[in-house]
Amino acid sequence: MPSIYEQIGGEKAVDLAVEEFYRRVLTDERIARFFDDIDMDKQMAKQKAFLTMVLGGSNQYTGLDMRKGHAHLLAQGLNDSHVDAVVENLGETLKSLNVPIELVNQVTALASSLRNDILSR
Ligand code: HEM
Repeated sequence: MPSIYEQIGGEKAVDLAVEEFYRRVLTDERIARFFDDIDMDKQMAKQKAFLTMVLGGSNQYTGLDMRKGHAHLLAQGLNDSHVDAVVENLGETLKSLNVPIELVNQVTALASSLRNDILSR
């Protein structure tokens, strides 16, 4: 079986998806504030590498693990509702790019499975 990374369309698809995903996140009033002081070019590069890795593409991710990468956001009130919103934005992004629904569901399930690390529990 080809990896999810290959099935959604490889590097081009991931690049497009990450750009569209953050466009949505930054205009989503439930979660935009967490990104106020973030360098979004760097963030997008990290997210592209991270998604590539977890979807079964190459492993070039050199960023923090999910627990360390989000620990400081707990002090800003990060909770389950914010994870839900991020997962929802990811799903809507992939649907808007015509990724088949079975694949969308696999990717959102994977993102959701990181919840306990992201919320340090
Ligand atoms: C649900 C799955 C999620 C994934 C796969 C994910 C992925 C990532 C990755 C790969 C990084 C880079 C870590 C590093 O700095 O080395 C990161 C950082 C970050 N994430 Fe997430 N994240 C998720 C959920 C969330 C949620 C729910 C929020 C807030 C609404 C959020 C906000 C942020 C912010 C603000 C940063 C940058 C932190 C900084 O540079 O100070 N993330 N995330």
